[in-house]
Amino acid sequence: MSQRKPVRKAVFPVAGLGTRFLPATKSIPKEMLPIVDKPLIQYAVEEALEAGIDTLIFVTSRKKHAISDHFDTAFELETRLAEAGKVDLLARITQIVPKNVSRVHVTQREALGLGHAILCAESIVDDEPFAILLADDMIRSPGRGALAQMLDVHDQTGASVIGVEEIPEKMTRSYGIVGVNHAEDGFQEIHTIVEKPAPQDAPSRLGVVGRYVLSPHVFSCLRDVQAGAGGEIQLTDGIAAMLKSHRVLAYPFAGVRYDCGSRQGFIKATIDYALDHHELRDDILEHMSGILLQYSVEKESGKP
Ligand code: G1P
Repeated sequence: MSQRKPVRKAVFPVAGLGTRFLPATKSIPKEMLPIVDKPLIQYAVEEALEAGIDTLIFVTSRKKHAISDHFDTAFELETRLAEAGKVDLLARITQIVPKNVSRVHVTQREALGLGHAILCAESIVDDEPFAILLADDMIRSPGRGALAQMLDVHDQTGASVIGVEEIPEKMTRSYGIVGVNHAEDGFQEIHTIVEKPAPQDAPSRLGVVGRYVLSPHVFSCLRDVQAGAGGEIQLTDGIAAMLKSHRVLAYPFAGVRYDCGSRQGFIKATIDYALDHHELRDDILEHMSGILLQYSVEKESGKP
């Protein structure tokens, strides 16, 4: 049995501007955009809860009341659903976060970057290893969720663990990219991490996706970080500094990841989740078959 203290706290940075989805994100945070019938943030929270997290820390900007409202009790709605006997719907809105789970909202007053957002959570996280989930990276795993898989690795090794996947070479400028060595215990040990390098400067094609289990030592590293890529205080640069003294592993989790920060990724996730949904599957499949048929007919007839 492991003697390590379990990781209990997860930070959800939700203060980004979501410019790629304007005007939809003019008054709501991008993390509140729904995939089928749940907002992105709820999928990330469910992944964290499944992994045993019991303290959810949201780092928000001032305008993000929608996120706290989503996880709060909605008395009027609950009363109406109860009176109407809509038990299933009632369960869907009351059982999002179990009662023993705490929620903390921290404000990031200036949009200075992901590293700065994480620093804003320092006093709540305190001196223990913690998780970070970026809700716009949605991960659909065949069994246990990506964070649960990563916590298993952390539990075995005591190291920090970062979720990675192979990305196309031309996409390196959109990700943190890691260089790894294969360690004796079979894990991939990170020796280099660079934020959004040009393809020719990238140490590999292993891109960081939005899941991290980090030592609290990252906070002191982040405090010394200067603005980096995009003029922002980057989490990647804090992790790079931490590599000098701490073991950090790259973990290629089992699962499909959707980049829901991009419109294409968001639409792909919507299609796949709809096809997984027992009430929607047949209807959506029929619709898509019709579209594909129409496209093939148009293609054969030489239409552009
Ligand atoms: C952030 C991180 C980057 C990581 C990415 C994953 O970038 O800075 O290292 O690869 O998330 O989604 P962002 O997408 O916020 O620009």
